[in-house]
Amino acid sequence: MLFGTQKINSAGHLEVGGCDVVDLAKEFGTPLYIIDEDAFRARATEYVNDFKSQFPDGNGDDFQVAFASKAFLCKAAAKLADSCGLHLDVASLGELKVVADAGVDLAHVTMHGNFKKDEDLEGALDLGVGLIAIDSVDEYRRLSEIASARGAIQRAVIRVAPGIDANTLDEISTGRNDTKFGITVENGAAIEAITECLDLPGIELVGIHAHIGSQILELEPFDLLATKMVGICAKVKESTGWTPQLVVCGGGLGIHYEATDNPPSVADLAKTLVEGIRRETEKHGLPMPSVGVEPGRSLIGEFGLTLYECGPVKTVPIGDGATRTYVSVDGGLSDNPRPVMYGAQYPLVLANRANEEVTTSVRVSGRHCETDTLFKAVDLPPPRSGDLLAILSTGAYNHVMASNYNFFYRPPVVFVSDGKAREVVRRETQEDLMARDIG
Ligand code: LLP
Repeated sequence: MLFGTQKINSAGHLEVGGCDVVDLAKEFGTPLYIIDEDAFRARATEYVNDFKSQFPDGNGDDFQVAFASKAFLCKAAAKLADSCGLHLDVASLGELKVVADAGVDLAHVTMHGNFKKDEDLEGALDLGVGLIAIDSVDEYRRLSEIASARGAIQRAVIRVAPGIDANTLDEISTGRNDTKFGITVENGAAIEAITECLDLPGIELVGIHAHIGSQILELEPFDLLATKMVGICAKVKESTGWTPQLVVCGGGLGIHYEATDNPPSVADLAKTLVEGIRRETEKHGLPMPSVGVEPGRSLIGEFGLTLYECGPVKTVPIGDGATRTYVSVDGGLSDNPRPVMYGAQYPLVLANRANEEVTTSVRVSGRHCETDTLFKAVDLPPPRSGDLLAILSTGAYNHVMASNYNFFYRPPVVFVSDGKAREVVRRETQEDLMARDIG
């Protein structure tokens, strides 16, 4: 399975963005994160066009696609998303500052987080964030005080927990009743909250928001979401007369990790959400709101790869005459915690011998003081020390979730496009890590 501009070239090497990854490894070292800029642009355009086509008579204000930058963030990524006409979502003041540093117009940015402290809200207001996704009663009361104290009116949406099980990993199914995120719909808390919030000074409530989970491989939960969101709007309209300008349906569209994954297309997601909201608003006699989505993984996940160098290869007896071959690579838990956290699996390619016959099953391990297995059993050409292993579909939630466990330096990020590679995040150094250690 190859993605975006990836191909195997005549030398039998993996190529991406017109760059041979063997050359990239020589130039930038390993482990290395590589992002396929053109493929990101193409997917961003697909998102915008697929939503636009749901509004044939629209004026461009009918929908809003925001890149959930928590999936992959650095200044170059923020600029890239912005240049594709996307809005951006941030999950913290730190992320907001990166986006601000990248020169993005913060009017196009939404700030999330289930516990925004006063200093986060103050910081976001100082910077002029466009929209705040309010996550709790406590938060809108504090936001109202903070904004009105400075004579400001902050645009906001309220995040609700619509009670939908998105049938994904427990850790990332966030739209159920049993979740820390958002205000519960089922017990009436969300409607009470919207009603109270509408009366508070310092906040202009423009809409409602939900995010039901991540790596969702079915459309039904999104259709149910459309129904529930409009159902809330209908109830609030009944009691207050208010109708939202904006209904944000979160991110969550899944991508290919395992051969069996068959994610819906962006076009089908757009159709499901927009047709669902249109159907329900017509049913309830409500105006059609602008429809927001905030994809992260499905914009960048398949278009990033992690390149490792293989080190020691050893075969050990595991009983009953069987053996196992271990291949250690020069990264692991610290640059990709997802296999250990979620049992995540990925497509992979022996990048310098991609055409060779796959004849052996090996276990791929990282190099941390930990059993940081990346792949329990994966079929490859017999790997040798010095080979390059490319783990595909690692564009989302890898670079941003990296740590310094064992004092390994976080890898650089290289963007590739049209045969050119540019380093946008350099490799971490011992000095970077020691800068905070003030003894
Ligand atoms: N909007 C909100 C409010 C979110 O919380 C998220 C992701 C997104 C949008 C983007 O969702 P996506 O389109 O990427 O599925 N660390 C986990 C994923 C956590 C997702 C957190 N929220 C992982 O590695 O799988």
